[in-house]
Amino acid sequence: MPRIAYVNGLYTRQSIAAVSIEDRGYLFADAVYEVWSIFDGRLADLDGHLNRLERSLRELQIAMPMPRDSLLVVLNEVVRRNHIREGMIYLQISRGAAPRDHVFPGPDVRPAVVITAKPIDREAAAQKAEAGVKAITAPDIRWGRCDIKTVGLLPNVLAKQQAKEQGASEVIFVDRDGYVSEGGSTNVYIVGHDNVIRTRPLTANILPGVTRLNMLKVAEQEGLTVIEEAFTVEQLKAAREVFVTAATSLVLPVVCVDGAPIGNGAPGLVATALREHYIDRARATAGV
Ligand code: PDD
Repeated sequence: MPRIAYVNGLYTRQSIAAVSIEDRGYLFADAVYEVWSIFDGRLADLDGHLNRLERSLRELQIAMPMPRDSLLVVLNEVVRRNHIREGMIYLQISRGAAPRDHVFPGPDVRPAVVITAKPIDREAAAQKAEAGVKAITAPDIRWGRCDIKTVGLLPNVLAKQQAKEQGASEVIFVDRDGYVSEGGSTNVYIVGHDNVIRTRPLTANILPGVTRLNMLKVAEQEGLTVIEEAFTVEQLKAAREVFVTAATSLVLPVVCVDGAPIGNGAPGLVATALREHYIDRARATAGV
Protein backbone atom coordinates (compact mmCIF):
# COMPACT_ATOMS: atom_id res chain seq x y z
CA MET A 1 0.00 0.00 0.00
CA PRO A 2 1.63 3.30 -1.06
CA ARG A 3 2.22 5.92 1.61
CA ILE A 4 0.36 9.19 1.09
CA ALA A 5 1.85 12.61 1.88
CA TYR A 6 0.10 15.96 2.06
CA VAL A 7 2.04 18.61 0.13
CA ASN A 8 0.68 22.14 -0.22
CA GLY A 9 -2.98 21.25 -0.54
CA LEU A 10 -2.64 17.90 -2.32
CA TYR A 11 -2.59 14.31 -1.09
CA THR A 12 0.12 12.63 -3.15
CA ARG A 13 1.91 9.29 -3.27
CA GLN A 14 4.89 9.89 -1.01
CA SER A 15 7.33 8.28 -3.47
CA ILE A 16 6.64 11.01 -6.03
CA ALA A 17 5.79 13.90 -3.67
CA ALA A 18 8.12 16.89 -4.11
CA VAL A 19 8.71 20.47 -3.02
CA SER A 20 10.30 23.32 -4.93
CA ILE A 21 14.11 23.53 -5.14
CA GLU A 22 13.55 27.12 -3.98
CA ASP A 23 11.76 26.06 -0.80
CA ARG A 24 13.37 28.03 2.03
CA GLY A 25 13.32 24.96 4.26
CA TYR A 26 15.63 23.32 1.72
CA LEU A 27 17.81 26.42 1.12
CA PHE A 28 18.09 27.91 4.62
CA ALA A 29 16.46 25.48 7.10
CA ASP A 30 13.90 28.31 7.28
CA ALA A 31 11.18 25.94 8.50
CA VAL A 32 9.66 24.45 11.63
CA TYR A 33 8.32 20.98 12.35
CA GLU A 34 6.28 18.93 14.77
CA VAL A 35 6.02 15.21 15.49
CA TRP A 36 3.03 13.54 17.13
CA SER A 37 2.71 9.97 18.26
CA ILE A 38 -0.43 8.21 17.05
CA PHE A 39 -2.30 5.87 19.37
CA ASP A 40 -5.37 3.99 18.09
CA GLY A 41 -5.39 6.25 15.01
CA ARG A 42 -5.50 9.46 17.09
CA LEU A 43 -2.86 12.13 17.69
CA ALA A 44 -1.34 12.06 21.16
CA ASP A 45 -0.72 15.30 23.09
CA LEU A 46 -2.57 17.08 20.31
CA ASP A 47 -2.88 20.58 21.74
CA GLY A 48 0.59 20.67 23.26
CA HIS A 49 2.18 20.15 19.85
CA LEU A 50 -0.20 22.60 18.13
CA ASN A 51 0.57 25.23 20.76
CA ARG A 52 4.32 24.76 20.30
CA LEU A 53 3.93 24.82 16.51
CA GLU A 54 2.14 28.18 16.70
CA ARG A 55 4.85 29.50 19.00
CA SER A 56 7.68 28.33 16.71
CA LEU A 57 5.97 29.97 13.72
CA ARG A 58 5.41 33.18 15.68
CA GLU A 59 9.05 33.35 16.79
CA LEU A 60 10.15 33.09 13.14
CA GLN A 61 7.39 35.38 11.84
CA ILE A 62 5.99 32.66 9.58
CA ALA A 63 2.22 32.81 9.18
CA MET A 64 0.13 29.83 10.28
CA PRO A 65 -0.71 28.38 6.83
CA MET A 66 -4.32 27.56 7.72
CA PRO A 67 -6.58 27.82 10.75
CA ARG A 68 -5.90 25.31 13.51
CA ASP A 69 -9.18 23.46 12.85
CA SER A 70 -8.34 23.00 9.17
CA LEU A 71 -4.85 21.78 10.02
CA LEU A 72 -6.38 19.23 12.34
CA VAL A 73 -8.63 17.97 9.54
CA VAL A 74 -5.59 17.53 7.27
CA LEU A 75 -3.52 15.79 9.97
CA ASN A 76 -6.34 13.33 10.64
CA GLU A 77 -6.81 12.78 6.92
CA VAL A 78 -3.13 11.86 6.49
CA VAL A 79 -3.47 9.36 9.35
CA ARG A 80 -6.64 7.94 7.75
CA ARG A 81 -5.25 7.70 4.22
CA ASN A 82 -2.19 5.86 5.53
CA HIS A 83 -4.33 3.53 7.68
CA ILE A 84 -2.16 4.26 10.73
CA ARG A 85 -3.34 2.89 14.07
CA GLU A 86 0.00 3.03 15.92
CA GLY A 87 2.59 5.38 14.51
CA MET A 88 3.79 8.93 14.13
CA ILE A 89 2.95 11.96 12.03
CA TYR A 90 5.47 14.55 10.83
CA LEU A 91 4.51 18.11 9.89
CA GLN A 92 6.87 20.65 8.36
CA ILE A 93 6.06 24.26 7.55
CA SER A 94 8.60 26.38 5.70
CA ARG A 95 8.48 30.08 4.93
CA GLY A 96 7.70 29.08 1.34
CA ALA A 97 9.47 28.98 -2.01
CA ALA A 98 11.12 32.09 -3.45
CA PRO A 99 14.31 33.01 -5.36
CA ARG A 100 17.26 32.60 -2.98
CA ASP A 101 17.71 35.72 -0.86
CA HIS A 102 18.45 35.67 2.86
CA VAL A 103 15.83 38.27 3.75
CA PHE A 104 12.19 37.24 3.95
CA PRO A 105 10.25 37.09 0.67
CA GLY A 106 7.18 39.33 0.16
CA PRO A 107 3.77 38.62 1.67
CA ASP A 108 2.59 36.93 -1.56
CA VAL A 109 4.86 33.95 -0.79
CA ARG A 110 2.79 31.46 1.20
CA PRO A 111 4.23 29.02 3.76
CA ALA A 112 4.77 25.50 2.38
CA VAL A 113 3.25 22.56 4.24
CA VAL A 114 4.31 18.91 4.14
CA ILE A 115 2.77 16.15 6.26
CA THR A 116 3.77 12.48 6.32
CA ALA A 117 2.90 9.57 8.61
CA LYS A 118 4.32 6.14 9.28
CA PRO A 119 3.54 3.18 11.52
CA ILE A 120 5.47 2.38 14.71
CA ASP A 121 5.93 -1.18 15.96
CA ARG A 122 4.89 -0.66 19.60
CA GLU A 123 5.97 -4.19 20.53
CA ALA A 124 9.53 -3.56 19.28
CA ALA A 125 9.52 -0.18 21.03
CA ALA A 126 8.44 -1.83 24.29
CA GLN A 127 11.27 -4.36 24.02
CA LYS A 128 13.74 -1.54 23.41
CA ALA A 129 12.49 0.26 26.53
CA GLU A 130 12.67 -2.92 28.60
CA ALA A 131 16.32 -3.34 27.64
CA GLY A 132 17.14 0.39 28.00
CA VAL A 133 19.34 2.32 25.59
CA LYS A 134 22.93 3.53 25.52
CA ALA A 135 23.91 7.18 25.17
CA ILE A 136 27.10 9.15 24.69
CA THR A 137 27.79 12.74 25.74
CA ALA A 138 28.93 15.44 23.32
CA PRO A 139 29.51 19.20 23.47
CA ASP A 140 26.38 21.23 22.75
CA ILE A 141 27.49 23.30 19.75
CA ARG A 142 23.98 24.37 18.70
CA TRP A 143 22.64 27.90 18.29
CA GLY A 144 21.04 30.03 21.01
CA ARG A 145 17.38 29.39 20.10
CA CYS A 146 16.97 25.66 20.58
CA ASP A 147 13.52 26.44 22.03
CA ILE A 148 12.25 26.90 18.47
CA LYS A 149 11.57 23.59 16.74
CA THR A 150 13.31 24.33 13.45
CA VAL A 151 14.51 21.79 10.90
CA GLY A 152 18.06 23.19 11.32
CA LEU A 153 19.32 20.03 13.02
CA LEU A 154 22.83 19.56 11.65
CA PRO A 155 24.59 19.46 15.08
CA ASN A 156 21.97 16.92 16.22
CA VAL A 157 22.48 14.87 13.05
CA LEU A 158 26.26 14.78 13.45
CA ALA A 159 26.12 13.97 17.16
CA LYS A 160 23.50 11.23 16.73
CA GLN A 161 25.60 9.70 13.94
CA GLN A 162 28.60 9.75 16.30
CA ALA A 163 26.43 7.99 18.92
CA LYS A 164 25.45 5.33 16.40
CA GLU A 165 29.07 4.73 15.41
CA GLN A 166 29.84 4.16 19.10
CA GLY A 167 27.01 1.65 19.50
CA ALA A 168 24.67 4.11 21.27
CA SER A 169 21.27 5.39 20.19
CA GLU A 170 21.16 8.86 21.75
CA VAL A 171 23.54 11.72 22.39
CA ILE A 172 23.30 13.84 25.53
CA PHE A 173 24.46 17.40 24.91
CA VAL A 174 26.62 19.08 27.54
CA ASP A 175 26.92 22.87 27.57
CA ARG A 176 30.13 24.89 28.01
CA ASP A 177 29.70 24.99 31.79
CA GLY A 178 29.47 21.20 32.06
CA TYR A 179 25.67 21.06 32.48
CA VAL A 180 23.45 18.68 30.53
CA SER A 181 21.17 20.54 28.14
CA GLU A 182 19.12 17.85 26.37
CA GLY A 183 19.39 14.89 24.04
CA GLY A 184 19.92 14.95 20.27
CA SER A 185 16.17 14.42 19.85
CA THR A 186 14.95 14.08 23.45
CA ASN A 187 14.77 15.82 26.83
CA VAL A 188 16.95 14.29 29.56
CA TYR A 189 16.22 13.46 33.23
CA ILE A 190 18.11 11.96 36.13
CA VAL A 191 16.77 10.24 39.22
CA GLY A 192 19.10 10.81 42.17
CA HIS A 193 19.72 8.58 45.17
CA ASP A 194 17.19 10.83 46.95
CA ASN A 195 14.64 9.51 44.38
CA VAL A 196 14.12 13.07 43.12
CA ILE A 197 13.78 13.59 39.35
CA ARG A 198 15.81 16.44 37.92
CA THR A 199 15.55 18.01 34.49
CA ARG A 200 16.89 21.23 33.08
CA PRO A 201 14.50 24.19 33.35
CA LEU A 202 13.13 25.62 30.11
CA THR A 203 15.37 28.28 28.59
CA ALA A 204 16.24 29.26 25.02
CA ASN A 205 18.87 26.47 25.09
CA ILE A 206 16.50 23.48 25.02
CA LEU A 207 13.32 22.45 23.29
CA PRO A 208 10.24 22.69 25.52
CA GLY A 209 9.30 19.05 24.95
CA VAL A 210 5.60 18.33 24.89
CA THR A 211 6.32 14.87 26.28
CA ARG A 212 8.34 16.62 29.01
CA LEU A 213 5.38 18.86 29.86
CA ASN A 214 2.94 15.98 30.18
CA MET A 215 5.43 13.59 31.75
CA LEU A 216 5.97 16.12 34.55
CA LYS A 217 2.20 16.10 35.17
CA VAL A 218 2.18 12.30 35.25
CA ALA A 219 5.13 12.27 37.66
CA GLU A 220 3.32 14.69 39.95
CA GLN A 221 0.18 12.55 39.88
CA GLU A 222 2.32 9.57 40.86
CA GLY A 223 3.57 11.51 43.87
CA LEU A 224 7.11 11.84 42.53
CA THR A 225 9.20 14.92 43.23
CA VAL A 226 10.50 16.74 40.18
CA ILE A 227 12.94 19.63 40.37
CA GLU A 228 13.55 21.69 37.27
CA GLU A 229 17.21 22.34 37.89
CA ALA A 230 20.28 21.99 35.68
CA PHE A 231 22.58 19.08 36.51
CA THR A 232 26.18 18.38 35.56
CA VAL A 233 27.58 15.57 33.49
CA GLU A 234 29.08 14.16 36.73
CA GLN A 235 25.61 14.08 38.33
CA LEU A 236 24.32 12.39 35.18
CA LYS A 237 26.88 9.61 35.37
CA ALA A 238 26.42 9.12 39.13
CA ALA A 239 22.61 9.07 38.92
CA ARG A 240 20.55 6.11 40.02
CA GLU A 241 18.51 6.37 36.81
CA VAL A 242 18.68 8.32 33.57
CA PHE A 243 15.84 8.56 31.08
CA VAL A 244 14.84 10.59 28.04
CA THR A 245 11.49 11.65 26.59
CA ALA A 246 10.18 12.51 23.12
CA ALA A 247 6.97 12.11 21.14
CA THR A 248 8.30 9.08 19.31
CA SER A 249 10.29 7.30 22.02
CA LEU A 250 7.90 8.40 24.83
CA VAL A 251 9.78 7.66 28.07
CA LEU A 252 12.96 5.69 27.45
CA PRO A 253 15.41 4.46 30.14
CA VAL A 254 19.13 5.09 29.48
CA VAL A 255 21.26 2.34 31.01
CA CYS A 256 24.74 3.32 29.87
CA VAL A 257 26.45 6.69 29.29
CA ASP A 258 29.87 6.91 27.60
CA GLY A 259 30.36 3.18 28.08
CA ALA A 260 29.71 3.18 31.86
CA PRO A 261 26.55 1.67 33.38
CA ILE A 262 23.96 3.90 35.05
CA GLY A 263 22.94 2.46 38.44
CA ASN A 264 22.94 -1.32 38.10
CA GLY A 265 22.91 -1.08 34.29
CA ALA A 266 19.21 -1.95 33.94
CA PRO A 267 16.14 0.29 33.47
CA GLY A 268 15.13 1.81 36.80
CA LEU A 269 11.82 1.59 38.62
CA VAL A 270 10.97 5.28 38.23
CA ALA A 271 11.53 5.42 34.47
CA THR A 272 9.74 2.13 33.92
CA ALA A 273 6.69 3.23 35.91
CA LEU A 274 6.63 6.65 34.25
CA ARG A 275 6.75 5.07 30.80
CA GLU A 276 3.76 2.89 31.61
CA HIS A 277 1.71 5.73 33.12
CA TYR A 278 2.67 8.11 30.34
CA ILE A 279 1.53 5.71 27.63
CA ASP A 280 -1.75 5.02 29.46
CA ARG A 281 -2.42 8.74 29.74
CA ALA A 282 -1.39 9.52 26.14
CA ARG A 283 -3.58 6.72 24.78
CA ALA A 284 -6.55 7.78 26.91
CA THR A 285 -6.32 11.46 25.92
CA ALA A 286 -5.25 11.02 22.25
CA GLY A 287 -7.19 13.12 19.76
CA VAL A 288 -8.37 15.56 22.39
N1 PDD B 1 12.35 15.39 18.60
N2 PDD B 1 14.68 17.92 22.31
C1 PDD B 1 14.96 17.82 20.99
C2 PDD B 1 16.24 18.41 20.49
C3 PDD B 1 14.07 17.17 20.13
O1 PDD B 1 14.34 17.10 18.82
C4 PDD B 1 12.88 16.61 20.65
C5 PDD B 1 11.87 15.93 19.79
C6 PDD B 1 12.63 16.73 22.03
C7 PDD B 1 11.39 16.18 22.67
O2 PDD B 1 10.26 16.94 22.31
P1 PDD B 1 8.80 16.31 22.28
O3 PDD B 1 8.61 15.64 23.58
O4 PDD B 1 7.90 17.44 22.10
O5 PDD B 1 8.78 15.31 21.15
C8 PDD B 1 13.56 17.40 22.82
C9 PDD B 1 11.44 14.85 17.61
C10 PDD B 1 10.62 13.72 18.10
C11 PDD B 1 12.24 14.53 16.36
O6 PDD B 1 13.09 15.33 16.03
O7 PDD B 1 11.97 13.52 15.70
